[in-house]
Amino acid sequence: MKIGHVDVHQGVLLAPMEDVTDLPFRVICKRYGADIVYTEFISSDGLVRDARRSMEKLRLAEEEHPVAIQIFGGDEDVMVEAARRAEESGPDFVDINFGCWVKNVVVRNAGAALLKDPPRMQKLTRSIVDAVKKPVTVKTRLGWSRDSIVILDVARMIEDAGAAALTVHCRTRDMGHDGDADWSWIPKIKQVVNIPVILNGDVKTADDVVRAFAETGADAVMIGRAAIGNPFVFRQAHAALNGESAVSTSPRERIETCLEHLRLEIAHKPLRRAVHEFRKHYGGYLKGLPHNSPVRQDVVRYESYDEIAERMLKYADDLESVVAE
Ligand SMILES: Cc1cc2nc3c(=O)[nH]c(=O)nc-3n(C[C@H](O)[C@H](O)[C@H](O)COP(=O)(O)O)c2cc1C
Repeated sequence: MKIGHVDVHQGVLLAPMEDVTDLPFRVICKRYGADIVYTEFISSDGLVRDARRSMEKLRLAEEEHPVAIQIFGGDEDVMVEAARRAEESGPDFVDINFGCWVKNVVVRNAGAALLKDPPRMQKLTRSIVDAVKKPVTVKTRLGWSRDSIVILDVARMIEDAGAAALTVHCRTRDMGHDGDADWSWIPKIKQVVNIPVILNGDVKTADDVVRAFAETGADAVMIGRAAIGNPFVFRQAHAALNGESAVSTSPRERIETCLEHLRLEIAHKPLRRAVHEFRKHYGGYLKGLPHNSPVRQDVVRYESYDEIAERMLKYADDLESVVAE
């Protein structure tokens, strides 16, 4: 199964996540084996207005391909223009967000709001497909609410509109991120469309990846929250899919990857902003390591890379000396 020139068979993809899947994190995930990475969603209004923060999000690195730029919005003309601008940045795909559940997005008739109007979703998709040369993909949910699941109709309609792949977050809009994702819809969707179908929702471990493929016949799976502070999940997933024994991640590798991620953030944004925005990542990188809370409490107070690196590397040394004793 291919999306444009990219073979997605049993691919393990990094989900788009606002304030998480920026360029540095995508590069790190790619290094650990993410087969396709997605930008966080970018406001079509912001792109068309040339808003600085939206334009910044279009920047891609050479080594992160294949990469999709994801856009969202409610106005067709604005979305079409934003898709053109996104394409100029050289992604492999343009992805449309029809799944965002948050209020300030859906009140603008964007994101998951389109699940209440599948014909409009289809029209918007077709207009974008017609406007750009790159493959256009769609990410959505099962429906607006548990008693209005429309994904089978939506899948047919967006395929008919020319979309090159469909990612399904297997929850409804009213679930937000709560409750279990219902993967049982994936085989049903596979029966009604021929484009690649990407499963998303509650894929947390390498075993989940193997189970998702085996249970649903999805063409690819997409990991969101479980990759935060844990890009290693992509390496583990590929090992499990290849029947290889699990590759463990040492505390030092976790800490050095965390520092490398921080260095990339500092290279990518102003120092103060990079250091502050990075604070949400320590919890993920240090998760499960013994006595990590004093380390976290220290590093979130520091303003310089050197202080953070010194504290983190000292912690890595301490952990190794405990093991050696
Ligand atoms: C912090 C955060 C930000 C997100 N931002 C986006 C986004 O920009 N675009 C999008 O399509 N989905 C977004 N999502 C949803 C994820 O892509 C994914 O569909 C959801 O987290 C379910 O997958 P998971 O169970 O693997 O986390 C976001 C989720 C989280 C937790």
